[in-house]
Amino acid sequence: MSSSTLRSTWCGSRLRGVRGENGSTCRRQGIGFRSRRVGFRSVVASGDESGRIEPDLSVKVNGLDMPNPFVIGSGPPGTNYTVMKRAFDEGWGAVIAKTVSLDSSKVVNVTPRYARLRANANGSKKGQIIGWENIELISDRPLETMLKEFEQLKQEYPDRILIASIMEEYNKTAWHELIERVEETGVDAIEINFSCPHGMPERKMGAAVGQDCALLEEICGWINEKATVPVWAKMTPNVTDITEPSRVALTSGCEGVAAINTIMSVMGIDLDTLRPEPCVEGYSTPGGYSCKAVHPIALAKVMRIAQMMRLEFSGNNLSLSGIGGVESGGDAAEFILLGANTVQVCTGVMMNGYGVIQKLCDELKDFMRKHNFSSIEDFRGASLPYFTTHTDLVKRQKEAIAQRKAMRKGLQSDKDWTGDGFVKESESMASN
Ligand SMILES: Cc1cc2nc3c(=O)[nH]c(=O)nc-3n(C[C@H](O)[C@H](O)[C@H](O)COP(=O)(O)O)c2cc1C
Repeated sequence: MSSSTLRSTWCGSRLRGVRGENGSTCRRQGIGFRSRRVGFRSVVASGDESGRIEPDLSVKVNGLDMPNPFVIGSGPPGTNYTVMKRAFDEGWGAVIAKTVSLDSSKVVNVTPRYARLRANANGSKKGQIIGWENIELISDRPLETMLKEFEQLKQEYPDRILIASIMEEYNKTAWHELIERVEETGVDAIEINFSCPHGMPERKMGAAVGQDCALLEEICGWINEKATVPVWAKMTPNVTDITEPSRVALTSGCEGVAAINTIMSVMGIDLDTLRPEPCVEGYSTPGGYSCKAVHPIALAKVMRIAQMMRLEFSGNNLSLSGIGGVESGGDAAEFILLGANTVQVCTGVMMNGYGVIQKLCDELKDFMRKHNFSSIEDFRGASLPYFTTHTDLVKRQKEAIAQRKAMRKGLQSDKDWTGDGFVKESESMASN
C-alpha cells in the first residue's frame, strides 16, 4: 500500500482534551464512556506547486500544545533550572523534570552510577555506545528548590510545556501533598513514576507499584481524585504483560501512559577484577538499562499498549508517550507509527546534548516529506494494522504461495487475464 493510499484510509483517532473537560476522563468503553473521537480522517493536504508538503511537527496532547512531539524524558536532562531552560531554548516540545518526592533527604546516590555497553567485546573502551545502565535514584535535590525552579521556568516560558515527574511512598496524604505542591508551581501535567526498577522499590515506590496492579489501582485512585492537570502513568517494562498495569492506570483516571522506563539489568562483569559494573567500593546492584539497545523492546511494549488502547479506550482523550533508545528522527517515527503521540528522550540527550533536537526534528520532517505526511496525526498508528498473529502469517503465506504457483502454471481461463499483470501472465504461459 502506498503511503498516500494509507493516509487517506487510515483512521487516526485523535486523543484530545484536558483533565476537567469531562471530569474523570478515563472510564472504559462500555462503562459510562462518552465518545470524543474526532472520527475518520480523510487527509487532503495542501502542498506547494511541486505538490510537496511542509510537514507540521506540532502536536496537541491532552489539551497541551507542543511545537513538536519530542519530550525530554525524566532523568539527568531535567535535573535543574539551568538544564531545563536549555531544553526549552533549544526547542524541545516539552520537558519532564527529574522525579521528585517530598523528602529528598531519603535519596542518597552513589558514584559511579552509570555503566555503558559498547558494540564490541566485553570491557572494550572503544566502539559505539549501545546500552546504558544506571543505578541513579530520583532527584536528591530538596523539593522546595525543585518547586521554585518549576515556578521560575513557567514564569519565563509560559507557553512551553513543563511536566513534573513525581513518586511517593504508600501514603495517601503524602501523595496529595506532593500533587498539591507540584501543581501550585504551574506545571502543565504530571507524570507518575511507577517504574524506577532500582533503589526505590525497596521503599515500595516506583516499579514496586507498577508491578502490582492492586497497589497501582489504589494509588492511581488517590492521585486522580486530587490532580487537576493531566496525569501520565510511566510504566515499567519489567512485567510479563505491560498492558495490564497500563489498563489499570487508564481505568483509574490517568490521561496518558508513558513507556518504557528502564529495564532491569546487570551491565557486565569486569573480567580482570571479577566485579560487576557499575562498581561502587567493589560491589554493585542491578540497575536500569536504556539507550539504543532497548529500542526494539520499547517498540514492542508501546505497540502492545497502543493496541490495547485502541481496542478498549478508543475515542477517549488518552495519550501515549513512547520512550526508549531514541537517537534519530526515524526512531521517533517508529514510535509514532505504533500510536505514540509524543516521544521522550533521556539517554540520547546525555550522549548527544540538547542540540540533538534540531537533528531529530529535521529527520522526522524528512521522513514525513518522503511519505507526503503533513502532520503527526497523518501517520500516528499507521503501522499497527500490520501486526497479526503467527497463525495468520502462516495462513497468509500459504495463500500467497498458492497464488504464485497458480501464476506459474498459467491462467486457468481467459477471464483471468488482468491489465496490470498482462505481460507476466503472457510470460507464464510461454515455454521458452
Ligand atoms: C541516568 C538516568 C536517570 C533516570 N532517572 C529517571 C527518573 O528520575 N525518573 C524517571 O521516570 N525515569 C528516569 N529514567 C528513565 C528515562 O526517563 C527513560 O525512561 C529510560 O532511560 C529509557 O529512555 P532512553 O533510552 O531515552 O534513556 C532515567 C534514565 C537514566 C538513564
